[in-house]
Amino acid sequence: MIKKIKVDLLRPGVYITDFNCSWLAHPFLTSKKRIKSYKDIEKIRQAGISEVFIDTTKGIDIFETLTREQFLEEFKTNLEDVVPADELDYQVQVPLEKELKQAREIQYKAHDLLKRAYQDIRYGNVLKIKEFAESVNEIIDSVTRNRDALLLLSNIKAKDEYTYEHSVNVSILAAGISKALKMDKDEIFQYTLGAILHDIGKSKIPDEILKKQSPLTQKEYTILKKHVELGVEILSAHKEVTANTLSVIAEHHERLNGTGYPKKLSGSQISLGGKLGGILDVYDALTSERVYHTPVNPVQALKEIYTQRDILFEEELIQQFIKFLGIYPPGSLVKLGSGFLAIVIEAGREDILKPVVRIIYDLKKNIPILPRNLDLSKGVGDLHYIEGMVNPAYYDINVNEYLLNMLTD
Ligand SMILES: [Fe+2]
Ligand SMILES: [Fe+2]
Repeated sequence: MIKKIKVDLLRPGVYITDFNCSWLAHPFLTSKKRIKSYKDIEKIRQAGISEVFIDTTKGIDIFETLTREQFLEEFKTNLEDVVPADELDYQVQVPLEKELKQAREIQYKAHDLLKRAYQDIRYGNVLKIKEFAESVNEIIDSVTRNRDALLLLSNIKAKDEYTYEHSVNVSILAAGISKALKMDKDEIFQYTLGAILHDIGKSKIPDEILKKQSPLTQKEYTILKKHVELGVEILSAHKEVTANTLSVIAEHHERLNGTGYPKKLSGSQISLGGKLGGILDVYDALTSERVYHTPVNPVQALKEIYTQRDILFEEELIQQFIKFLGIYPPGSLVKLGSGFLAIVIEAGREDILKPVVRIIYDLKKNIPILPRNLDLSKGVGDLHYIEGMVNPAYYDINVNEYLLNMLTD
């Protein structure tokens, strides 16, 4: 199928069949091209092209809406597998609206702690592990009170604060997934601590490399990769840190087929902490805005990870992660049968297909509306059923802004 799409939605693997401009205006030799990298996309953007035609029979498809059926087909799974079972730790102790403000403070505190830790380490001071333990306990407590508050807030992302935000987000995901996997209290704590510190070695990598606005050279990339060993070294001064915590730091870049680093471990040589850390790390990176990388929505990110099942990541763990996040993870934008766009703010408690959403845009009138929450499980399903997940870039919707506004409501 030939489709016209915005340049912002382009991904490597797409086949462009028409640049939607004269051949003199686009940066390539031919008018048909398979997109190989984010560099290609940047070139197209720099040429001032905003929309192109793609051929989905020759390259990957870019969807506007992903329906439930497509989701299930995509992941070759059935609904029963995705719907969280009763025994899942899924009860709400505190309503979202109430937990949200507290969660924002916890998120902010963790962020600030990381920022200070980076400075501390750069000045040669010892990492304050106790403060991290406190912060991790706060994260776990918030996730226990309400699974979705921090998860929703993890969608608020600012490009320049990536390093800290990313570490906090990975720890939020780690707390959630390890709870969903029914780990015991100690394990949940140990893995969440590993997650928040997984990139701590980056504090010893020069800012010129960490914050570089263009692709890294081979030499710079080799230096960046050292963050794994440097992280282990920083933590080795703390005898109270357990093997589970260290495994996340030491092995989050190892890959199932042995193509990771630093030790090129493969298969069962990689610990659970390393395997989990790898999936959560990549998921958060894909959904964040980076240099040469437009963020993708949660489902697209899961899809990219799923494509690497049993190659880079363990299939069983990816399935668990999908189950945990659900078909419509908090923060995703959906289109309702009633013609509204809405942001998913809380997973469906009884039925995963009926989450609580925040309606923000009227597609029929083409105007934003005063946001209001709607629980799709409360008998409004006939009218407001979810048609599918949509890509915010299609409608120029800034989910970040809506989430921040929710906090001041
Ligand atoms: Fe890393
Ligand atoms: Fe990371």
